[in-house]
Amino acid sequence: MEELIKAAQAARGMAYAPYSRFQVGAAVLGESGRIYSGCNIENASYGLSNCAERTAIFKAISEGEKKLIALAVVADTPRPTAPCGACRQVMIEFGINQVILCNSKGEQHVVAMNELLPLSFNKNDLTGAGIF
Ligand code: THU
Repeated sequence: MEELIKAAQAARGMAYAPYSRFQVGAAVLGESGRIYSGCNIENASYGLSNCAERTAIFKAISEGEKKLIALAVVADTPRPTAPCGACRQVMIEFGINQVILCNSKGEQHVVAMNELLPLSFNKNDLTGAGIF
């Protein structure tokens, strides 16, 4: 867990956030045991900005990981940072179970994915095996 947080902190230093000035770092642990990190990457066309969590997840999947285990996210906020809704949906897709919310003071809060996104839409809904 400490290694994952360190990787997220290091990635935060690479954030490209000239518009919001809100720098975020994330890191994911793949089932292979490898760690992938990412930062937020903004764009002059604001809506094209990508969050740190999705950068890290997409790096992991594009490097061959099939399933992810845990994710850490770090920002310089008074309280540990919570991931946005779009990132929560992407986390569900790849099986992330444990999410470690952190701030740059080193405060941490560990949450389960089903606390972050209960009753999610996921691949089961497409096959009629949804929960309702
Ligand atoms: N951001 C993230 O990278 N992760 C989050 O969970 C929340 C928001 C980024 C998006 C944008 O570049 C900046 O933070 C301000 O919203």
